[in-house]
Order: sequence, then C-alpha cells, then structure tokens
Amino acid sequence: MAIAPGLPHDRLGRPLRDLRISVTDRCNFRCSYCMPKEVFTKDYPYLPHSDLLTFEEISRLARAFATLGVRKIRLTGGEPLLRKNIEALIEQLADIRTLEGQPLELTLTTNGTLLARKAAALKAAGLRRATISLDALDDAIFRQMNDVDHPVASVLEGINAARAVGLGPLKINMVVKRGVNDHEILPMARHFQREGLTLRFIEYMDVGATNGWRMDEVLPSTEVLGRLQRAAGDGLLPTLAPLERAAPGETAERWAYADGSAEVGFISSVTHAFCGDCNRARLSTEGQLYLCLFAHQGHDLRGLLRAGASDQDIAAAIAGIWQQRADRYSELRASLPAESTAGARPRIEMSYIGG
Ligand code: GTP
Ligand code: 5AD
Ligand code: SF4
Ligand code: SF4
Repeated sequence: MAIAPGLPHDRLGRPLRDLRISVTDRCNFRCSYCMPKEVFTKDYPYLPHSDLLTFEEISRLARAFATLGVRKIRLTGGEPLLRKNIEALIEQLADIRTLEGQPLELTLTTNGTLLARKAAALKAAGLRRATISLDALDDAIFRQMNDVDHPVASVLEGINAARAVGLGPLKINMVVKRGVNDHEILPMARHFQREGLTLRFIEYMDVGATNGWRMDEVLPSTEVLGRLQRAAGDGLLPTLAPLERAAPGETAERWAYADGSAEVGFISSVTHAFCGDCNRARLSTEGQLYLCLFAHQGHDLRGLLRAGASDQDIAAAIAGIWQQRADRYSELRASLPAESTAGARPRIEMSYIGG
C-alpha cells in the first residue's frame, strides 16, 4: 500500500498514532459502570454476526491506519477474548509494519477471565503485551463489581499466565468508585507493588448513557495518590516519585516506587483531562470509526470496504475524517450544558467501543 503524502493531523494539530479496535460488543461481566445488568439483559440488541467486521476487513483497515502513522493497536471489546479465534486476527495484525518498518505495538485489554486458558496462544500469535482490568482483590467485592459472581482467583491466575508467557510489561487497570471499591486501593497497591506490576487507577467516567454516573462517586486521582503517600509514610508502601510521561498523548500520569519495585499510574479523565495530545482513533466492532470515546456518532468504514473501495481510497477517507476532528470531550466536560453530558443524545457505550 502506498504511503499517504503527509501524515494527517486533526484540527487541533494532533497526529493519529493509536488505534483501538473493538472486536465484540459482548462481555461475560456486568460491571455496573460499563454494562449494568438491568440494561444489558439477554434481550439487549447486541450486534448480529453479519454486522461484525471480519478479521480480513479489520486487518485491511489496520494496514490503512498504519500508512497514516498508527504505531500501536489495542484490541478491546466488550471482552475481546470472547471473539472466536481471536488468535487468527492477532496473527494477521502482527504482520503489519509501521511507516518506520517496525512491527506494531500490539496489545489487548481484557478482564482476564479467559487469559489462563489463552495466554500462550495469544503470545504465539504475536500479541506483545496485555492489560488486565481488576477492580478489587477482595473476592466478595470483586464478585459484586463484576455482578456475575465471578471469583477473583481466576483473574489472578490469568495475570500469572500472561506474565509466565511474556506478555509484559503487564498493566492492571482499576476503576475506582468511591464507596464501592476505594477501600481496595491500598490492598491492590501493596499486592501489585510486591508483584512488580504496574497498577493504574482510573477515575470513574461518565462514558456511555447507561451507568448512571455521578460526580460524587468519582474519587479524584489526587486523593488516591494522597492515600498511597500516607501509606508510604506509615511504612506500608515504598515512597513514590513522579516520572515523565513515556509518550505524548499517554493516558496515565506515571509514578514509580523509589526502590524500583514497580510503577503506578493515574488516569484522570475527569479531574485532569488529557485531550491536548490525544492521538487515539477507535474502530467499532461493526466498522464505525469514532474520533472520541465520548462521541455520539461514528464514520462508516465498513460501507466503504464492502462497496469495493481500494486501499488508497480507504486510507484517504480515514485521513479526511481525521483532519476534520476537533473532539476534546473531557476538557470540555466541565463547561458543557448539562443535557449534553447527561445522555440527551445517547453517547456510545464503553462496551461497544472499548476502553
Ligand atoms: P497503555 O498503552 O498500556 O498505556 O494503554 P492505554 O492507557 O492507552 O489504554 P488502556 O486501555 O489501558 O486505557 C486505560 C483506561 O483509560 C481506559 O479503560 C479508559 O478508562 C481510559 N482511556 C483510555 N483512552 C482514553 C481516552 O482517549 N479518553 C479518555 N477519556 N479515557 C481514556
Ligand atoms: N469509567 C472508567 N473506566 C471505564 N471502563 C469501562 N467503563 C468505565 C467507566 N465508566 C474501562 C475499565 C475497563 C475497561 C475495559 O474500560 O478500565 O477495564
Ligand atoms: Fe466490565 Fe470490561 Fe466487561 Fe465492561 S467490558 S463489563 S468494564 S469487564
Ligand atoms: Fe481523546 Fe476524547 Fe478521551 Fe479527550 S475525551 S482524551 S479527545 S478520546
């Protein structure tokens, strides 16, 4: 595929570097902040199979994105490991090269329930690393948060399996909800510090239209950091020091334990937005391109594919869409009128577009 002349930048001067591909809108968990049980019942209109992009279609689009500057691809869901034979897709994506001739940074966000079974095959297919969502170590709280009574032990097994096959550096994502799992912050921090894995605290976000988000359930990252620092003062954790952001556009502010044992990250989309250099595009399971996690509407790429567009036409279409982008929802959240933050025009769901 020819290289597009001049890489596209959006209207705020942001390049396109990171593509997040949702491979299914289904999940075996019902986390209340993402797929509340009352809404995501068995009658929920999940996408029919014929609407999903095939692996060949996904790979073709991914190649087009790579010609436009994408270097990192993350598979998401729903729960991506529920997509049948996901290893075959990973094999195809692992063949793609960036403009610099390097393999893509190929990663995946999972709830970890199928990892113990699948880690070795994922690694063999060419997956580079994995990020695992885990909101509590306490079994009762974990079962309550996933709302399907799934035990924490299986996720911990998944984490071990991923580490054993070399899917590191592993990151653990914890969504913090005040009054629900905030007392798990310290046990989680101590556990993953000892394990030498990166734990990232995510502020509970007003994403989608179904989770009944309320600001008073958000625990700001500064408070989480304060708790860790107090614990360090009490000798329960090593001291923490801030690190530079590893790459522009990164979601997390990074800190490291002074003894070098592990890092922690803070993803503060609510209290400290990071839209300024957001270089992430999102491809839905049915081939809609979304320019922001909080977008109301996507741009149909599947239609183009199925109408027989050439690789160059597809790349040109994506570039054109990206060049029109001005999204920066998290930065604007505070100043938007209430109805546009309260789902008057429903926003896409996290389970549809992935983290
Ligand atoms: P790394 O490459 O491993 O650093 O991953 P990442 O942080 O880019 O991706 P990950 O899927 O681990 O993202 C973690 C969480 O950050 C997601 O689950 C979301 O809650 C949040 N997040 C990721 N991207 C965005 C974004 O573009 N906007 C906002 N507001 N939140 C995001
Ligand atoms: N707020 C913050 N993060 C969320 N996720 C899903 N819903 C939310 C929300 N409302 C993130 C979690 C999960 C990933 C798949 O999506 O990090 O691990
Ligand atoms: Fe929970 Fe992730 Fe499933 Fe959403 S996609 S319900 S956050 S496990
Ligand atoms: Fe990017 Fe939208 Fe998230 Fe801001 S809110 S960081 S623009 S995806």
